[in-house]
Amino acid sequence: MDKKIIYSGIQPTGVVTLGNYIGALQNWLKLQDDTNYQCIYSIADLHSLTVRQVPAEFRNRALSFFAQYLACGLDPQKNIMYFQSHVHEHTELTWILNCFTYVGEASRMTQFKEKSQKHPDNINMGLMDYPVLMAADILLYNTALVPVGVDQKQHLEIARDLAMRFNNLYSSTFTVPEPLISKVGAKIMSLQNPTAKMSKSDENVNATISILDSEDDIMRKFKRAVTDSDTEIRFGEDKPGISNLITIYASCKGISIENAVKELQGLTYASLKEAVGSSVVQLLAPIKLRYNDIMNDKENLLNIAREGAEQASYIARKTLRKVYKKVGLVQL
Ligand code: TYM
Repeated sequence: MDKKIIYSGIQPTGVVTLGNYIGALQNWLKLQDDTNYQCIYSIADLHSLTVRQVPAEFRNRALSFFAQYLACGLDPQKNIMYFQSHVHEHTELTWILNCFTYVGEASRMTQFKEKSQKHPDNINMGLMDYPVLMAADILLYNTALVPVGVDQKQHLEIARDLAMRFNNLYSSTFTVPEPLISKVGAKIMSLQNPTAKMSKSDENVNATISILDSEDDIMRKFKRAVTDSDTEIRFGEDKPGISNLITIYASCKGISIENAVKELQGLTYASLKEAVGSSVVQLLAPIKLRYNDIMNDKENLLNIAREGAEQASYIARKTLRKVYKKVGLVQL
């Protein structure tokens, strides 16, 4: 039986956050040992060009993100791991899919609207085309499941729509992908504004935990986390700060929200923050240790990326050839 394909990616902007770890990476780690699946994970570097990058910093950051994939425990023997820009089929399929995407549907995307507001001086075509490139990423590999946080759901929907639109016009070509969004931790919130998601590029460093933060930084940021003026430790919409802390604790410990509440109940807010901070420190400590070693061996890092790109290209090439044929391009 053919293995089902799992595909996901992270953009190398800002830092890899605890939100990325809990919403995405933690689930990827669970999937890599399931022999029913072939998992493919990219560093979505072309996506990051939709906002201005300083080239030398960007290059280092992309490599650092790849090293963080490995440091988290993603195993290149079990997963295909590569940089999006190393597999040219992504941009080629994007062009084809562009010709099937309506300007109206692309301009309605929440993230496009948000980013346009944030960068009014640089509302470029790439920003609007972002979900089409993401659809190409996914559809090139006949992906069945896409493990992401809840913020990517709308982009997944456009990928599904494009797959179905193309299949209806040209007969079955693409697998229609399903999102895989975990029940707990699909949206980790900012520590400073618990009604907004924890975002990689937040300017307030206290709002975000990087998975490479020091123990001191992590404990300090949790100490300062915004909660409420109440004293009750309870999970609920009316208590976004406390609910976020409970979610983080549950995700780090691998337990349900109910059990986390049971464990944490009765603590003062100060002790709650300490308990959550410690659970994060414990989770992240081994990652940081491995990261330094991995980053020190760039050659090995590039070899893994090269091999991953070759494996990915092999699959992507076949899909693109099929697509070119279906739309009527001349084959040599
Ligand atoms: P990106 O880089 O913004 O985020 C990477 C992954 O982390 C999840 N995530 C979160 N989960 C929980 N809480 C949060 N606060 C949080 N912040 C981020 C995201 O949902 C995502 O799963 N366009 C994508 C990258 C991408 C991609 C793809 C994803 C490119 N191609 C193909 C899946 C399939 C992005 O910018 O994610």
